[in-house]
Amino acid sequence: MRKPLIDISIIKQRLENIKPLFEDSALVLFSHPEYIRNNDVHHAYRQDSNFFYLTGFEEPGAIFVWRPGQTPETVLFVRPKDPEMETWDGFRFGTEMSARVFQMDAVYEVDAFETEAPKLLKDVRTVFHHQYRDVKNDARIQTVLERTKNAARRSGNGLLSIKDPNSVLGDVRLIKSEKEVEFMKVAAQLSANAHVSLMKAIEPGMNERELHGIFIKEIMAQGASREGYGTIVASGKNATTLHYVFNDEDCADGDLLLVDGGGEYKYYTGDITRVFPVNGKFTEVQKRLYNQVLDVQKKLIAMTKPGITLKQIGDAATEMLTKVMVDEGLLKGSVAENIKNSSYKKYYPHGFGHWLGMDVHDCGRATINGESRMLEAGMCLTVEPGLYIPQDDMDAPEALRGIGIRIEDNILVTTFGNENLTESCPKEVDQIEAIMQESYLG
Ligand code: GLY
Ligand code: MN
Ligand code: MN
Repeated sequence: MRKPLIDISIIKQRLENIKPLFEDSALVLFSHPEYIRNNDVHHAYRQDSNFFYLTGFEEPGAIFVWRPGQTPETVLFVRPKDPEMETWDGFRFGTEMSARVFQMDAVYEVDAFETEAPKLLKDVRTVFHHQYRDVKNDARIQTVLERTKNAARRSGNGLLSIKDPNSVLGDVRLIKSEKEVEFMKVAAQLSANAHVSLMKAIEPGMNERELHGIFIKEIMAQGASREGYGTIVASGKNATTLHYVFNDEDCADGDLLLVDGGGEYKYYTGDITRVFPVNGKFTEVQKRLYNQVLDVQKKLIAMTKPGITLKQIGDAATEMLTKVMVDEGLLKGSVAENIKNSSYKKYYPHGFGHWLGMDVHDCGRATINGESRMLEAGMCLTVEPGLYIPQDDMDAPEALRGIGIRIEDNILVTTFGNENLTESCPKEVDQIEAIMQESYLG
């Protein structure tokens, strides 16, 4: 038998805590679909975050129905035990073991969903189901809702209404419990260590893909299950592509390398970006630009505390980065003018950061009733200002063309301020150069 990845008592406590939010409702979660890569080979599987958050169950082909306050309350539909299939694809819990290990009130084989679910939905008002993610799952829900309606036709209630689970779970997942913070700290630390390993490993001429491989090796050697997202290993001008995906060029002497990578630990991910020189020493121009972005990043982190809104931090990021652009001769005119006409977006096209948690761009509302959301203790977000000057930008001073800089840390909002979970990942020029120099000297 496989052991569950996390203690199921954590899951039970979560369900208990959020019960009042799902009054008169049933939550129906489908495990993440499997995607075929070719023929009978699938893409690597990872459970859907909400599904794992509320079940701890990692298998595909499962459905979780939760009816707070009713009996049975927790119902799991799973793939049956199948010795032949398990010889090919590995262990399955099956119905009996799932019920025991994941402490479910009832467990059925997944093919029974269409017959059992209408009975489970008979007394609820609302069904939470994530629509338009997977057409097959939508069709299964449709069948169940029709059958539920037909079975209760004298009630006159009609079809049950469907709501998006993230409209509730998004804000629940936004505030991290102590246990979640513990997992996020591990993810942050192992990601930070992997970045340092790259600083030590890089040499001019190495290919981005080799560095990508080292990053994966380092996070997984420390216990990460996988990358939290596609790692970006972008040397030279490639760093001006925000989500560069190719990772296949040689790193040239004299260029900078931007690495945006994070490992996932128990379904929580780090998301760190560091920029360092391929040959271990920043040029004067690289250092000047880097230090200005770093200064902005530190000021934004200092602002990150309860009571401030995302917009306030975002506006400060725009203001400070636009000033850098004007000072560096990238933009003409005043800071205010360039903000007003959005011309700063040419060199800083993204936001200052995003929620971080089980998903790298985590769920949770950024605005409430049209107003920017205020930070609260327990939220976790990235702070990642950047400047990207396209190689072919003939309006930019020549020395700056082809430079991309982003510096990204993972910040936990605390009662009185914040804790930088990725503090140990070096970002001062002196620190980075010293680490890189040391490795050259052996
Ligand atoms: N790694 C993607 C991001 O930083 O948003
Ligand atoms: Mn990020
Ligand atoms: Mn990132």
